Amino acid sequence: MGSALLVDDSEITSERIGRRAEALSARLRAAGERAFPPTAQKFLRSFTSGEVAQIVGVSDGYLRQLSLDGLGPSPDLSPGGRRSYTLEQVNQLRAYLAEARPKESLKFWPRRRAGEKLQIITVANFKGGSAKTTTSLYLAQGLALQGYRVLAIDLDPQASLSTMFGYQPEFDIPENATLYGAIRYDEDRVSMKDVIRPTYFSGVSIVPGNLELMEFEHQTPRHIMASKARPEDLFFRRVAGAISEIDDEFDVVVIDCPPQLGFLTMGALNAATGMVVTIHPQMVDVASMSQFLLMTSELVSVIEEAGGKLHYDFLKFLVTRHDPRDVPEQEIVALLRDLFGSDVFSATAWKSTAIANAGLTKQSLYELSRGSVGRSVYDARWSRSIR
Ligand SMILES: Nc1ncnc2c1ncn2[C@@H]1O[C@H](COP(=O)(O)OP(=O)(O)OP(=O)(O)O)[C@@H](O)[C@H]1O
Ligand SMILES: [Mg+2]
Repeated sequence: MGSALLVDDSEITSERIGRRAEALSARLRAAGERAFPPTAQKFLRSFTSGEVAQIVGVSDGYLRQLSLDGLGPSPDLSPGGRRSYTLEQVNQLRAYLAEARPKESLKFWPRRRAGEKLQIITVANFKGGSAKTTTSLYLAQGLALQGYRVLAIDLDPQASLSTMFGYQPEFDIPENATLYGAIRYDEDRVSMKDVIRPTYFSGVSIVPGNLELMEFEHQTPRHIMASKARPEDLFFRRVAGAISEIDDEFDVVVIDCPPQLGFLTMGALNAATGMVVTIHPQMVDVASMSQFLLMTSELVSVIEEAGGKLHYDFLKFLVTRHDPRDVPEQEIVALLRDLFGSDVFSATAWKSTAIANAGLTKQSLYELSRGSVGRSVYDARWSRSIR
């Protein structure tokens, strides 16, 4: 491996960078494959009846009685008499309870009722590493656990969100299978249905990402130049247009944005009904967020001048990777709360090794059972999941 570090004077710069890229990519792939072999199919563990009681909001004793009476789904029974449910069964249980206890049906079956619009939540900030992808992942999975039908859209060419859902951008995602396929300008455009895939996490579907998404950033200026475009064909309307094709099939769409304010992000901002800005509470990040907000405001005014209407139901700030014992961080969080008030989520995402590790093992905390993480992390997960 040492030879990779030797500088060869005859090598041109692009080759030298390329060689570094290959070495790093091979090493990462090897580490990733050890943790999660490419052939491994991701599947979700089942949940104990105690967990299910907590997720669904009934008592464990009531669940036990239901299963003894043969009502609702039949959980798996271990030799020790412990009951466990797959997430599909949790949803069957929700459907059963909603019907059996109609007064509480909204609680058990919180899906859109007639007349309610699809919520489209965009997670954005151009600061890299502010936990956009982690937030999108937990938001999508957390909402699915609550019984919602969720569509996660990976708008980042780096495709970290797709990877977390078990899709490897280089191997598993062919051409025209990202959102680009559904928003491109030429005749190769496909329908939104064609780019949506199921995931192992029941209730979450995904539009995966890969480098192909960059094409939208390249093609859009050409499209604008050649603009005989009709208003409905405007570039920033294309993401919203694609989502409207599948409007009825989901309750919430979660869009993981790339760390820049390009044309894709503008499309997501235009499609959104709500926005979450993730912020790591460090001074440099706060300074860059101020730039982000200024630029976003300018971009949004461009959209508004072109006749786009953005009526967000909320624009919230989520403090991420937060170490609540760190005094400078406490001060920054206090500053944010002072400035933005209740627009800052009162819950913050605490910094945790278990969350950071999940990037390599490709598992969120929801997927780990109690034994495999520290008790405090596990308990915090259920009580703090975003409500
Ligand atoms: N609460 C947390 N505790 C510890 N580590 C975290 C936490 N949230 C995120 N991380 C880690 O921080 C890193 C950056 O997170 P993430 O990829 O979600 O950020 P991002 O904003 O999507 O980055 P990018 O701008 O590159 O898309 C990852 O390694 C992730 O595992
Ligand atoms: Mg990301």
